[in-house]
Amino acid sequence: MAKRVAVIGAGVSGLTSIKCCLEEDLEPTCFEQSSDIGGLWRFTEKIEERRASIYNSVITNTSKEMMCFSDFPMPEHFPVFLHHSKFLEYLRLYADHFNLLKYIRFYTAVIHIEKAQDYSTTGQWTVVTEKNGKQECFTFDAVMICTGHQIEAYTPLESFPGLETFKGNIFHSRNYKSSEGFEGKTVVIIGMGNSAADIAVETCRKAKKVFISTRGGTWVMSRVYDNGYPWDTIFQTRFNNVIRNSLPWLLLRWLTEKKMNQWFNHENYGLVPQNRSLMKEPVFNDDLPSRILYGAVIVKPLVKEFTESSAIFEDGTVEENVDVIIFATGYTVAFPFLDKSVIEVENNRVPLYKHVFPPHLEKPTLAFIGLIQPLGPIMPTAELQARWATRIFKGLSSLPPESTMVTDTIIRNEKRIKWFGTSRSQSIQTDFITYLDELAAESGSKPNPFMLLLKDPRLALTIFFGPCSPFQFRLMGPGRWAGARNAILTQRDRIVKATKTRVVEKSLDQNLFGFLKIFGFLVLLAAVFLSLRQPSSSPSDEQ
Ligand SMILES: Cc1cc2nc3c(=O)[nH]c(=O)nc-3n(C[C@H](O)[C@H](O)[C@H](O)COP(=O)(O)OP(=O)(O)OC[C@H]3O[C@@H](n4cnc5c(N)ncnc54)[C@H](O)[C@@H]3O)c2cc1C
Ligand SMILES: *[C@@H]1O[C@H](CO)[C@@H](O)[C@H](O)[C@H]1NC(C)=O
Ligand SMILES: *[C@@H]1O[C@H](CO)[C@@H](O)[C@H](O)[C@H]1NC(C)=O
Repeated sequence: MAKRVAVIGAGVSGLTSIKCCLEEDLEPTCFEQSSDIGGLWRFTEKIEERRASIYNSVITNTSKEMMCFSDFPMPEHFPVFLHHSKFLEYLRLYADHFNLLKYIRFYTAVIHIEKAQDYSTTGQWTVVTEKNGKQECFTFDAVMICTGHQIEAYTPLESFPGLETFKGNIFHSRNYKSSEGFEGKTVVIIGMGNSAADIAVETCRKAKKVFISTRGGTWVMSRVYDNGYPWDTIFQTRFNNVIRNSLPWLLLRWLTEKKMNQWFNHENYGLVPQNRSLMKEPVFNDDLPSRILYGAVIVKPLVKEFTESSAIFEDGTVEENVDVIIFATGYTVAFPFLDKSVIEVENNRVPLYKHVFPPHLEKPTLAFIGLIQPLGPIMPTAELQARWATRIFKGLSSLPPESTMVTDTIIRNEKRIKWFGTSRSQSIQTDFITYLDELAAESGSKPNPFMLLLKDPRLALTIFFGPCSPFQFRLMGPGRWAGARNAILTQRDRIVKATKTRVVEKSLDQNLFGFLKIFGFLVLLAAVFLSLRQPSSSPSDEQ
């Protein structure tokens, strides 16, 4: 009999988990407390209690060829970076294509999960759900937790003396929907992540003044990278990853800073990250530097104290008549339906083996999917996690002993602290490509460009020098997809297709450049040829 798997949540992670269960002939049942799929990506004006809430102007910070699922490229006419509604549209296409909806029970919240009575022999779990106030109990052979980690707002009110006397409006970025109502207001935004930057750029068109208050600073990157390609398709290549992981630390840091400062000098904009010995996750915002240049957004240090109507910053400057304070201070990871004995969140960090399995459970039948923050898209990462987990559930692969897993978890965390520091916003940060490969190795789908070099050189070179797109993990092994090769070789076309919406002639420059390249190559060839024909004919050669 097929094993029954409970999937909790029908966002990105839940949808791909259902699909991976089906691939392994497991029997998924997905519980989604809201009315529809999409999780965070389904924008609503009304904020729902147990679901992530985004603002109406959210545009993805990862590009379409990188953030799709590995066997389902986005339609080529989709824009390169997508408005949330467009990404939701993609999720709907995915769910339809693989027929996932029929496994989902909507309006059904999971309120409790515990070990079933005979857990020690079967590894089964009891799942308690609630629908329309009515509770129900189920037994499952395995559980995949896909509830997301951007639900519970983190608002460190206590670190700001005087906040309780403040007479204006205070809210978390979770409650921000649009800039409506900000006309003529003075706004202080606490924090310097993607949301903070987006909200600053958006409200400053209407507000009187907008301040961003940051302790640590940040790098700001444009989505538009070298030659106008999406940043992640250039940054996240295997070639660049090898370089990043083999350069000496100081040189790497120097190069990173040089690259980050190419667009604008972060020091002059008051943004440069405070602790330079760390990798700071960049903020993606194409407009922030110009808004700072216009004086429409003003960067400030941390607020020392609030009064009834003013903010006193750590540098001693005071801003009077503040109307609104927005906490863009991130989220707290929480699993209210799980007992502490199953998983304990410490310092916003969840100690999981390879970010998926709790190491201390006797049976590998509980997996967390999507609980990561790679410097890249979550979608292919969650998908590979789910592919691995379902193979473990099925018994095709197994976990190492507990001590090995615990040690791995500790080492992994130390590495993270060395690279990213102890900042709570980066508590689940991982290295994108390295982590993907690690997961793929577990399920036998890790590509090897060097082995491919003889058999299919074009593909091998694209895999190594081109973007590390999800299709790479469908070339071989279980779950192989016949369309993967073609998807990889056409990925650049799909990127360009979305922007080259007017037929243009190749520019003269490009033609000339191409010609020069060929010409140069011919000259070189001729030189080599001649020097081979007349060995050491010229005395100057011997010097
Ligand atoms: C503003 C913003 C922009 C982002 N942009 C990007 C981006 O460009 N690229 C990227 O890769 N990532 C981005 N992210 C990260 C984002 O977390 C992931 O893209 C993705 O949405 C994670 O999906 P998920 O399924 O893990 O969680 P979610 O999308 O949060 O879905 C969780 C689902 O679980 C349901 N649920 C929760 N609790 C229960 C329960 N007890 N019972 C039943 N159902 C439950 C919820 O209703 C929800 O549907 C962004 C995040 C934010 C906040
Ligand atoms: C994209 O933005 C979200 C929301 O701030 C963030 O959680 C995620 O890490 C960002 N992704 C990248 C690759 O920076
Ligand atoms: C910077 O981070 C490193 C590594 O976490 C830490 O050892 C160091 O004390 C930090 N420096 C400052 C100035 O915070």
